[in-house]
Amino acid sequence: LAAKLAAFRPDKEAWMQPTHATIPQPQKIYLADYTPPAYLVRHVELTFRLAPKATRVIARIQFAPNPAAHSRDFFLHGEKLKLIRASIDGTPVQPVLVDGGLTASVPDAPFVWESEVEIAPIENTALDGLYMSNGMYCTQCEPEGFRRITYYPDRPDVMAPFDVRIESDLPILLSNGNPVERGAGYAVWHDPWPKPSYLFALVAGDLVAERGAFTTMSGKDVSLAVWTRAADADKASFALGALQRSMLWDEQAYGREYDLDVFNIVAVSDFNSGAMENKGLNIFNTAAVLASPATATDMDFQRVEGVIAHEYFHNWTGNRITCRDWFQLSLKEGLTVFRDQQFTGDLHGHAVKRIRDVIKLHTRQFREDGGPLAHNVRPESFVEISNFYTGTIYEKGAEVIRMLHRLVGPVAYGEALDLYFDRLDGQAATIEDWLQVFQDATGRDLTQFKRWYQQAGTPQVSVVKEYADGILKLTLRQHTPPTPGQPDKLPLVIPVAIGLLDSEGREILATQVLEFNQPEQCFTFSGFDDAPIASLLRGFSAPVILRQENTSEELALLLAHDTDSFNRWDAGQQLARRTLAAMVIDNAPPSSTYLNAMQAMLMNEALYPALRALILSLPSEEDTAQNLALAGQIPDPDAIHAAHEALKNHLAEHLEAVLPGVYAAMQVDAPYSPEADQAGKRALANATLALISRTDHGQAAEAQYAKADNMTLTLGALASLLSIGRGNSQLAAFATHWADDKLVIDKWFALQVTEAAPRRLLNMLNRLTALDTFDWQNPNRFRSVLATISANPAGFHQADGSVYRFVADWLIRLDSVNPWTASRISAAFDGWRRYDTGRQALMRAQIERIAKAPGISREMSEMVGRMLA
Ligand code: ARG
Ligand code: ZN
Repeated sequence: LAAKLAAFRPDKEAWMQPTHATIPQPQKIYLADYTPPAYLVRHVELTFRLAPKATRVIARIQFAPNPAAHSRDFFLHGEKLKLIRASIDGTPVQPVLVDGGLTASVPDAPFVWESEVEIAPIENTALDGLYMSNGMYCTQCEPEGFRRITYYPDRPDVMAPFDVRIESDLPILLSNGNPVERGAGYAVWHDPWPKPSYLFALVAGDLVAERGAFTTMSGKDVSLAVWTRAADADKASFALGALQRSMLWDEQAYGREYDLDVFNIVAVSDFNSGAMENKGLNIFNTAAVLASPATATDMDFQRVEGVIAHEYFHNWTGNRITCRDWFQLSLKEGLTVFRDQQFTGDLHGHAVKRIRDVIKLHTRQFREDGGPLAHNVRPESFVEISNFYTGTIYEKGAEVIRMLHRLVGPVAYGEALDLYFDRLDGQAATIEDWLQVFQDATGRDLTQFKRWYQQAGTPQVSVVKEYADGILKLTLRQHTPPTPGQPDKLPLVIPVAIGLLDSEGREILATQVLEFNQPEQCFTFSGFDDAPIASLLRGFSAPVILRQENTSEELALLLAHDTDSFNRWDAGQQLARRTLAAMVIDNAPPSSTYLNAMQAMLMNEALYPALRALILSLPSEEDTAQNLALAGQIPDPDAIHAAHEALKNHLAEHLEAVLPGVYAAMQVDAPYSPEADQAGKRALANATLALISRTDHGQAAEAQYAKADNMTLTLGALASLLSIGRGNSQLAAFATHWADDKLVIDKWFALQVTEAAPRRLLNMLNRLTALDTFDWQNPNRFRSVLATISANPAGFHQADGSVYRFVADWLIRLDSVNPWTASRISAAFDGWRRYDTGRQALMRAQIERIAKAPGISREMSEMVGRMLA
């Protein structure tokens, strides 16, 4: 053993470094340092004797030396475990416990490791590993929670089949794979598919099932179940249907068949993220699985369906083919987001889905990419991988795949994916493997394209248009601003989808894709009688900021006539951005071009309601702040808020005569269905109601609230009332009526934060967090208040810094029990350098206060460190 320990070089392996609680010096790990595991795992056998304070976990693991390894150092990760005993090939051993795990002297041949540890799920407030929620046991292992369950090589490139025995008196005992045996007080599960430990799951509780079935394309029957508490039994059927739709779609669109006899989904009310794709046993945040017309909005229904699809699709893109290491996280997340986007688009319409996704990309990912937290789609170093479940890994990762799809075309994309599944099934893969598949399937050289994975920051593309003698010349320039650690950027391959319209709005050139891959490049189009109007970046063909010198009249024409629905919406947004910027900077009145264009759009019954609702909605205040910062201005949150309010009032007045008619036409008589047609009507009803309320003192909203029989209309009415400073009695009635439904009460909290007048926000926050119902250790409840603050930027940025302090206080408090959720929300401060010196100093002080708080987690310390760097 001494020799083994001497040969052991801790500096090589960051995860073995002891961490000193008093001096937080986060240790970075680097992609370049990857080495293959020393030992592979052939088989895992786990026995759980469940008890809240003292669960015993007995592990029997068959190890074998990895022929590809660079060393024979045996190390098992382990955190917060009490080791009871350990043996190797049946002989008791005394392993050496080091920070973050253990090491032992082992044979240079296959051997069986056995250990028994004790853990306390009831004390696990971090919700990472095995924990308890509402009296049930459940797990969250991705990325590194399994090491809190037993000693194990907890890294995704170690894959093994698992046999699991659960001992407990609780009625429902679930784990991965297929059920083998059920007896009094125990159940046995077998998962034949080799998987990394992050996909392990266990659930034990008093649960009821919504059951269903699916027959796969080769005729295998699969039993499906969505497990909930009895009180939620009436909210599970939609998720079950969504699962069936997902299974069918993945067969039809990707040829991917399910590979076990059962598929279980469990709803858990204490959960750090949306959901988790554990093999055969997906675990979901209740918010991402439960839905009924009375309690969930149309957007909730769509989210549930999208998350169910996402987790299901991971079975192939994530589980059958997993990631070699966590630097490759976007290999599974970017691809799976792209797949769930395709799915939702196929089912409910691509344009609306695309617009919603781009709104999210703009607010969440562009902001991240433009600030101190910017990182590559494939990062090269990190302290805590848990800080990288970000808009960049997920949404930008999906955009990169969407560009690939567009560049090679759908047929070649399909061939590349077939090759991907053939070649890499059962393996832990890398971004290089992924790109190689596309190179081999299409013959295309992707060397330059790969920069999308290696370069952070949002590229800016400027366009100069020149027209003479029937020839249109477009000069495109690209520039990616510096990001932390990356001062200089190389040109990217940017697919620019373009169409041309004539001055009457008729399309004279259907969509084609320009491959823009130089710092500056010209494209010419000829054969015109008149200067054409370019519709650029159709469908948002690349995640870039496009800067073009369109006139407002051109934008109005695109809004009225473009064949690309996305660009109609985008033209409306550009008009709104311009008018908002002029209102903020020059105190200008709102542009009449914008107001008239909105009126024409609203009255255009050929445009489906969901699209009209999206076009009518202003860009967010965050969007305006980004836009002003891009133009070299220091955004003033109060002025931005005032301009948004003023523009909404102008719209309300300008459209006053037509709004009631549109609103009336959007009433749905049929029984509630979350389908796109009805949901679109309700979206436009709520969007028009918000404007109507500004001139009718809330009469229409009160009426809608009184007669609403679904949450979409209820919440729409309530939001309209709160936004004009009314609705107190409705708010109180709502709280009483829904007192027993946590997810609905989360909405009640969130709505008050979103709609609070900025100067009253702090009072509101103090009042809400003082309520008995503010169960701050529940992530959904905490987020409903604390994460919602960023939806009220003028409130967050109160010039006295009081809300900054409030947020920092709560982050410090939550960090001590749940670092994952706390460090996610700390990103609220990432824009601090954008603001005036007064606000900068106030925000900086709070970020520093968090950094210096005693006992701050590694997660949080990495976040604040990056924000201050
Ligand atoms: N892989 C999951 C998903 O995207 C997310 C896991 C988040 N991790 C966590 N600790 N909650 O579907
Ligand atoms: Zn995912």
